Amino acid sequence: MLKKKILVTGGAGFIGGNFVHYMLEKHPQYDIYNLDQLTYAGDLTKHYDIEAKSNYHFIKADISDRKTIMSLFKKEQFDYVVHFAAESHVDRSITDPEIFIRTNVLGTQVLLDAAKSIYTSKFVHVSTDEVYGELDFEPTTYFTEDTPLQPNSPYSATKASSDFLVRSYHETFGMPVNITRCSNNYGPYHFPEKLIPLTISRVFNDEKVPVYGDGRNIRDWLHVQDHCSAIDLVLHEGESGEVYNIGGHNERTNLDVVKTIINTLEKNDDLIEFVPDRLGHDKRYAIDPTKLEELGWKPKYNFETGIAQTIQWYLGNKQWWEQIISGEYKNYFDKQYSL
Ligand code: NAD
Ligand code: DAU
Repeated sequence: MLKKKILVTGGAGFIGGNFVHYMLEKHPQYDIYNLDQLTYAGDLTKHYDIEAKSNYHFIKADISDRKTIMSLFKKEQFDYVVHFAAESHVDRSITDPEIFIRTNVLGTQVLLDAAKSIYTSKFVHVSTDEVYGELDFEPTTYFTEDTPLQPNSPYSATKASSDFLVRSYHETFGMPVNITRCSNNYGPYHFPEKLIPLTISRVFNDEKVPVYGDGRNIRDWLHVQDHCSAIDLVLHEGESGEVYNIGGHNERTNLDVVKTIINTLEKNDDLIEFVPDRLGHDKRYAIDPTKLEELGWKPKYNFETGIAQTIQWYLGNKQWWEQIISGEYKNYFDKQYSL
């Protein structure tokens, strides 16, 4: 029997990279095709242990390159697409939104056209809770799949646009799709521009950690492995056309998260530096995952063990993040923060 072919876009990034590993382990009967442009956020060193596998394939391409993507789909006839590739960092979308529109909106449309041209069996679009906008600090309100989309940053506006495109290909052309909207992820290979890996790397080096505003903003953290298992479930069991929220009820203020990391590394809170707030900074995100739980999903990690393991992972994999923070990233960091 021919192996099913799964195209994973953005499989050299944080979540896509973890997902490629997860799928090779869990579903050795599939052929996994990792398509990635290898932007600043993508690297293949995370795949050194799987690159020789006969059911793992890498394709370097830009999802917005229509000609290349259309001919690739024609050649490979993918059974499933799991679409992670995106510009993912909110702060970068505030300083330079254009690339977000090209990759996140146009790139998604190109992939949809390509999947439509060969009747792919399922297109899973990996989106974000940020499309819902923000919640008040009131701890009794949550994002459900029916919460209206009110994106506040250029990043989340492009993700919401791509969600609407995916929805439209289902409604107009009957394409089998799911949209997943997950809360903040953490775990191995998280790029050090994001709060948790940025804090770990800076605290480890006794450097100041920039905390936006008063640090009271709340994010709902989920271990990346739990995100992977949720997407796997939605890919196989999700009802076509449906949206699924993903989250594990782990709300923390940014200050709590930073202090947890400082304590674990046995350093001092005076490393915290309050800096001017992010423009349009969303106050709080919190996911109601009931619909996904009804499909049979349960997260494995609680935040305390997940963050402790993640810190250990960063300590054991210094060469990965040190190589990033000493390169081009250093220019980005110095422009973004004056610490
Ligand atoms: P990331 O920035 O770590 O990785 C993005 C990957 O996409 C990189 O490997 C990059 O090279 C690739 N890429 C970017 N532009 C491309 C293009 N034009 N063509 C091909 N590849 C391209 O992102 P991440 O944090 O792993 O997020 C992955 C997806 O999950 C995104 O769609 C994001 O919106 C979504 N998401 C992220 C989180 C989170 O907490 N990080 C939470 C919910 C949803
Ligand atoms: O909610 C899901 C989203 O989570 C994903 O869609 C995004 O791709 C992902 O980047 C993430 O977005 P956030 O903006 O929430 O993540 P970030 O790590 O950038 O910031 C987390 C919180 O920490 C946020 O309230 C801003 C704050 N922050 C961030 C940085 C980088 C700081 O206080 N200081 C910082 O230096």
